[in-house]
Amino acid sequence: MKKRTLFRHPLAAVGGALFLAGGALFVVLLLIDLTTGTDNPYRSLVTFVIAPSIVTAGFLLFLASIYLQVRSARKRGERVRFNLSIDPSDPTYLRNLWLFLGLSAGLIILVIYSGTRAYEATDSVAFCGETCHVVMEPQSVTYHNSPHARVPCVECHIGPGASFYVRSKFDGIRQLFATALNTYSRPIETPVENLRPAQETCEGCHWPKQFYGDKLVAHTYYRTDEDNSPWTTKLLVKIGGGNPRTGVEEGIHWHMIGSKQIDYVPSDQKRQEIRWLRLIKSDGDTIVYRDPDVDPPDFDDPETELRRFDCMDCHNRPSHSFLPPAKALNLALSTRNISPELKYIREVGLEVLNSEYVDREQANEAIPKAIHEYYQENYPELAENAQPEIEQAITTLLKIYNENFFPEMKTDYRERENNLSHFVNDGCFRCHDGIMENDHGETISNACSTCHLIVSQGPSENLEELESDLGGLTFKHPEDIDEAWTEMKCTECHTPESGY
Ligand code: HEC
Ligand code: HEC
Ligand code: HEC
Ligand code: HEC
Ligand code: HEC
Ligand code: HEC
Repeated sequence: MKKRTLFRHPLAAVGGALFLAGGALFVVLLLIDLTTGTDNPYRSLVTFVIAPSIVTAGFLLFLASIYLQVRSARKRGERVRFNLSIDPSDPTYLRNLWLFLGLSAGLIILVIYSGTRAYEATDSVAFCGETCHVVMEPQSVTYHNSPHARVPCVECHIGPGASFYVRSKFDGIRQLFATALNTYSRPIETPVENLRPAQETCEGCHWPKQFYGDKLVAHTYYRTDEDNSPWTTKLLVKIGGGNPRTGVEEGIHWHMIGSKQIDYVPSDQKRQEIRWLRLIKSDGDTIVYRDPDVDPPDFDDPETELRRFDCMDCHNRPSHSFLPPAKALNLALSTRNISPELKYIREVGLEVLNSEYVDREQANEAIPKAIHEYYQENYPELAENAQPEIEQAITTLLKIYNENFFPEMKTDYRERENNLSHFVNDGCFRCHDGIMENDHGETISNACSTCHLIVSQGPSENLEELESDLGGLTFKHPEDIDEAWTEMKCTECHTPESGY
């Protein structure tokens, strides 16, 4: 019986080299993981999936080399005993040893380099937003205009930990196919069904116990009359929150602090209609609010979604906010990127922005044309004397359109409602509607001063000309609608068609 070392076969050298390189990659990435302190989902993917796969592949090759060697020995009728000993007197063995060492060195460098680069690349904002350019364009463009433009997509969409990123990886592969086969939905579906709970993403940066007191917010509006008359409303928004030192919980972030919990059952897929909800207070008391005219949800039905209320139910557009045209126009008029001297520009602007276009290109041709035509027909003296203002208005309108409307993906403010208010969609009034009640017939407060004080208001842009009181004023509606605003939701009149 001959004794031979297993390392004689070149495949063993390749397998061994892969084994070592994979192992080295694993160790290096694990060290990065442990030392940087930031948890990165894609790095984990390379560390815990790709590196072990390389190690396994090396091991399998090694096994294959044993099998091949045993088989060929059998064929030759030899009976050999293989072992793993080092045999410097055997030239074939030595050749393979050098092959093994050389390959290992090369592979280790290559694998570590490409592994870390691949992780950096997939982690970048460009990869998420631009690789699938058309599909993700609406989210990518709005993201770059948001306060989170420096927060990588993965921080909110995947978050730390291995299980979510493995899940997101499988989802990514599915999405890749959908993009390649052109079968993705337009618009992309939202709410994102399996978005990570906010506790694990948002709260990593925004500590819910440490919220902010009150915040002064100014809104300047322009009417749809000939002079684009201004109207200002200043609100002291009671953001509130918790104070860990005093234990006080108050204001709007009251929902989120302490051990209280709110669950609701949405009646529609977009969670815009809420007819049943349950509040479990910090002391364990449970209060159910529901619409007395609507049957309570059927909890035996697996379709019934019991949604745990979190940051994203109010802040559902923290980084993909599609501005409604009225709001965008008000901003542009107040910063003079559109001149209020242009007669009826608020109304005409609304009309051109709200029109249906097949794609971006068509809109970018139609909008300038419509504005020029409007002034030539209705205000020839403006068309002649206010050319710079008209050109500036057109540039601004196009910018508003291109940053907020994505006809190719059928995505704009109508499809992506922002729940943070109650003016464009019901937002807070989904629950604070004065209709749902508990067993004692009490409703969830919808008094204006629950959430904000109106501290200034009036038909002007200048603070000095407004009626002001830090103690809070009774709301005055800019248009005389009598007391209608006290009985109706704002959204019953302020619809996309009416231009808000
Ligand atoms: C600050 C956190 C945050 C960041 C950063 C972020 N997103 Fe989002 N994203 C969200 C939230 C919240 C939603 C909506 C969830 C919902 O309503 O269910 C969302 C929704 C989406 C949707 C679904 C369509 C839609 O508009 O609702 C896509 C696609 C998306 N994001 C892609 C991206 C891409 C690409 C990036 C990086 C360029 C990114 N996101 C960065 C929080 C974020
Ligand atoms: C990686 C850290 C990080 C994460 C995760 C994160 N944010 Fe932020 N957030 C920031 C930073 C930074 C700002 C900008 C602060 C500034 O400019 O004042 C900000 C700003 C905000 C603001 C204020 C925006 C404004 O208009 O002033 C809100 C609201 C907000 N984030 C909500 C969220 C929500 C909801 C989530 C989860 C979906 C989230 N954030 C996740 C870092 C983060
Ligand atoms: C009930 C709805 C609601 C919930 C739930 C909610 N917020 Fe807010 N949040 C608001 C409103 C309203 C504002 C004020 C927005 C404004 O006027 O600019 C705000 C403001 C903020 C701000 C900005 C504060 C500032 O000074 O500008 C941050 C940051 C923020 N929220 C983070 C969060 C996080 C994180 C969570 C989850 C723990 C959360 N919010 C849950 C409604 C909510
Ligand atoms: C899913 C339903 C729901 C939504 C949506 C909702 N709330 Fe509430 N909110 C509640 C419930 C329930 C209470 C507690 C009512 C009670 O006292 O029993 C509450 C209480 C409050 C309180 C009083 C807290 C205190 O100090 O006692 C404020 C302020 C508030 N909400 C603001 C808002 C704002 C602003 C929004 C929109 C950005 C909003 N809520 C959206 C369910 C909701
Ligand atoms: C449940 C809380 C809540 C109640 C009740 C409430 N509001 Fe508001 N309101 C908000 C929030 C949140 C915003 C958004 C604040 C911001 O603009 O940053 C808002 C915004 C507004 C705005 C500015 C709208 C815009 O986007 O231009 C007006 C005006 C207003 N509220 C008036 C009222 C009046 C009048 C009432 C009483 C009939 C009322 N609100 C009741 C929470 C509430
Ligand atoms: C009965 C219908 C009706 C209701 C209800 C209503 N509005 Fe209005 N609102 C109008 C009309 C009509 C205008 C004038 C539109 C114009 O000048 O272009 C208007 C104008 C406004 C404006 C001036 C800026 C603009 O967009 O034109 C604000 C701000 C406003 N409303 C706030 C509210 C708020 C907040 C509520 C809910 C508390 C509300 N409205 C409820 C009918 C209504």
